[in-house]
Amino acid sequence: PTLLVLFGGRSGEHAVSCVSAGGILDNLDRDRFDVVAVGITRDGVWLAVGDDTAPWRLRGREMPEVTADSGTPVALLPDPTRRELISLADGRRGETVATIDAVFPVLHGPAGEDGEVQGLLETAGIPYVGAGVCASATSMDKVVTKRILRDAGLLVGDAVDLDRSAADLSPAQRDRLGLPVFVKPCRAGSSVGISRVTAWEDVPAAVAFARESDPKVIVEAAVVGREIECGVLQFPDGRVEASVPAEIRLTGASDWYDFDTKYLDDACELDVPAKLDDALAESVREQAVRVFRTMDCSGLARVDFFVTDDGRVLVNELNTMPGFTATSLYPRVWATTGVDYPTLLTTLVDTALA
Ligand code: DAL
Ligand code: MG
Repeated sequence: PTLLVLFGGRSGEHAVSCVSAGGILDNLDRDRFDVVAVGITRDGVWLAVGDDTAPWRLRGREMPEVTADSGTPVALLPDPTRRELISLADGRRGETVATIDAVFPVLHGPAGEDGEVQGLLETAGIPYVGAGVCASATSMDKVVTKRILRDAGLLVGDAVDLDRSAADLSPAQRDRLGLPVFVKPCRAGSSVGISRVTAWEDVPAAVAFARESDPKVIVEAAVVGREIECGVLQFPDGRVEASVPAEIRLTGASDWYDFDTKYLDDACELDVPAKLDDALAESVREQAVRVFRTMDCSGLARVDFFVTDDGRVLVNELNTMPGFTATSLYPRVWATTGVDYPTLLTTLVDTALA
């Protein structure tokens, strides 16, 4: 089959998506798939970028980017009877570049992981890896996710859904949450736009910063606990399984798991599997699958938990297109669970095609 790997995009996680795509392009089984790589610029322009993965690697602290000269312009026809990628390049306008059997939308954050691109792919009639329109949209939104999970009886941390016109917390909201709090754009990822706030007078600046990413802002109570994450994978026969859980341990100067800690500073270690007693590990895995089913996900998700000292398991959030960089947790937990990176990718595409 011909697989379109789609990456970059208009979100604050553009660069992370490029690095994820690099990992995927390096690990796809080329005997199985003809691969067409399309990068989306920060302005939303689609470019066929060729097969070289070198531009999508992290170089020190330098993050990659799809720019206007990364490739030649293309577009997907919104015609389910054709499933074609066509050229928009001068002189080749309208020419068919490839007929696409499936898409791997390796897009993180808004305008890619939130149902927008999934809707386009539905319109084009092309199967794709991962969650559908509704699950992508609801899972991207931290307020909506918490409501749905709480309603299903899962434990989530306390949070305030800040009114769109509010620039600060009310006294009652402060009393309820207590310090510290995390101020977050409601729909973003990779910790973009997030502040950890330890003094109430710093909330308005943190809210303004979060609003640069999203007009909708959520303020969460800090949870004291271990950061445990679990991969969920759906197989072509419909079976949904959880990986071994992993623990993220911070080893650098930051007191929380921020963007630089995640990607740039080499300031965290992963325990794969997490050092949890068997019953707790089993509970995490069982709840990860419950989250996947409750949110009506497809294909894959990474579910992020806090495990408190007294053994409570709280769901922090889920990612319907988790990071796929060479060091990312999702491919690593599956490798430890017995599904190596190339097999993981083949499974995901086969599930999309099933
Ligand atoms: N949003 C990033 C890519 C992650 O969850 O891994
Ligand atoms: Mg997370």
